[in-house]
Amino acid sequence: MSKIEIKNLTKSYSRGSRSFEAVKNASLTVDSGEFVCLIGRSGGGKSTLLNLIAGLLNPDSGLVLINGQNIYDLGDDELTVFRNRTMGYATQGNSLLYSLSVLDNVRLPFFFDSCFGDGLDKALLLLDEVGASALKDSFPSQLSGGELRRVSLARALINNPSILLADEPTNDLDKKSAEEIASLLKRLNERTGLTVLAATHDVDLSHRAGRALEMDGGVLS
Ligand SMILES: Nc1ncnc2c1ncn2[C@@H]1O[C@H](COP(=O)(O)OP(=O)(O)OP(=O)(O)O)[C@@H](O)[C@H]1O
Ligand SMILES: [Mg+2]
Repeated sequence: MSKIEIKNLTKSYSRGSRSFEAVKNASLTVDSGEFVCLIGRSGGGKSTLLNLIAGLLNPDSGLVLINGQNIYDLGDDELTVFRNRTMGYATQGNSLLYSLSVLDNVRLPFFFDSCFGDGLDKALLLLDEVGASALKDSFPSQLSGGELRRVSLARALINNPSILLADEPTNDLDKKSAEEIASLLKRLNERTGLTVLAATHDVDLSHRAGRALEMDGGVLS
């Protein structure tokens, strides 16, 4: 079964009195264990597509199937549970909570369901994997852009997702740090079978993916 299947997905936005399609009739199948990159010009619709796949946006038309489940058939609460069980999403914008330490940001999902434990060991392990252990007691306002990206990635992985959506995971990183994150994604993909769908302008990262698809003007090709 495909891990991610999108069929004829369209999403319009309005700007002033004008409406335009940020995603136009996009279809895509990602199999379990694949590493796929979305590349293309700024404004091409990559983040919008990832938000649709994560169920954070509703499309005008089309389907998103995750493990065969049409996510738009789920109610809000069901979708939240489903998303937490299947996907991690490191968004392009910073989604960390500024009142919590880095460590608590990474293990945030554990605060909502105590039967999982406190997430401490797992969070420390992930911070180590993304090279951010030294930042565990800092707060997001004290971090650089690249450090925020590393921490966001650790948080996206805390639930042991089988799918990782990563939007510009190497943005704001120097070349060496970008290579480290690209290697980490590749390693997770190969070692654990994590399915990775990443949007990027980073050619080195896209070269590590099994497939790179271009998205321009809302059209995926
Ligand atoms: N909430 C919104 N309301 C209106 N227009 C939006 C909204 N979000 C995005 N857009 C527009 O939709 C288009 C696609 O944006 P999107 O963020 O998906 O592109 P992108 O490919 O991720 O770009 P980048 O590479 O710069 O991250 C752009 O023209 C953008 O300005
Ligand atoms: Mg984007």
